[in-house]
Amino acid sequence: MAPIKLIFTALIMVVMTAVTAQAGDAAKGEKVFKRCKACHYVDKDKNKTGPSLLNVMGRTAGGLESYTKYSKAMVAAGEGGLIWDDASMTEYLRKPKAFIKGTKMAFAGLKKDDQIADVIAYLYQFSE
Ligand code: HEC
Repeated sequence: MAPIKLIFTALIMVVMTAVTAQAGDAAKGEKVFKRCKACHYVDKDKNKTGPSLLNVMGRTAGGLESYTKYSKAMVAAGEGGLIWDDASMTEYLRKPKAFIKGTKMAFAGLKKDDQIADVIAYLYQFSE
């Protein structure tokens, strides 16, 4: 019996490591967020050039009422049903202007998938 238990334990550990590796690292994401900080607050409900990203995960795109400078494209995307989740945020941050043609966000995009996952994990920390 003992060897089977051992193999089982080893298997579970491998699976757990794989799951952890996939999820973003919020601490690393905080560093990535330095590139967003010029235009976005995430820790307070206050807008800069860009809308506050407090509670952005799960929010409708273009849906923050206190932010009055959204592009038509962003508002239209939200009206079309776009909600910020892992998948949509990943696409937007990879190439903002390709995902939402006409977005005002002057940011080229993040090249590395792990940077994107990390910054999303960081954003989740400020979303309910
Ligand atoms: C040069 C300024 C600038 C930088 C840098 C920037 N953004 Fe933005 N961001 C904006 C602007 C302006 C908008 C509004 C875009 C629109 O209405 O088309 C926006 C919109 C967004 C939205 C949509 C929010 C909503 O309420 O629908 C998200 C999400 C976002 N930015 C995330 C980020 C992240 C994450 C980074 C860093 C990786 C970043 N931005 C970097 C200016 C910036």
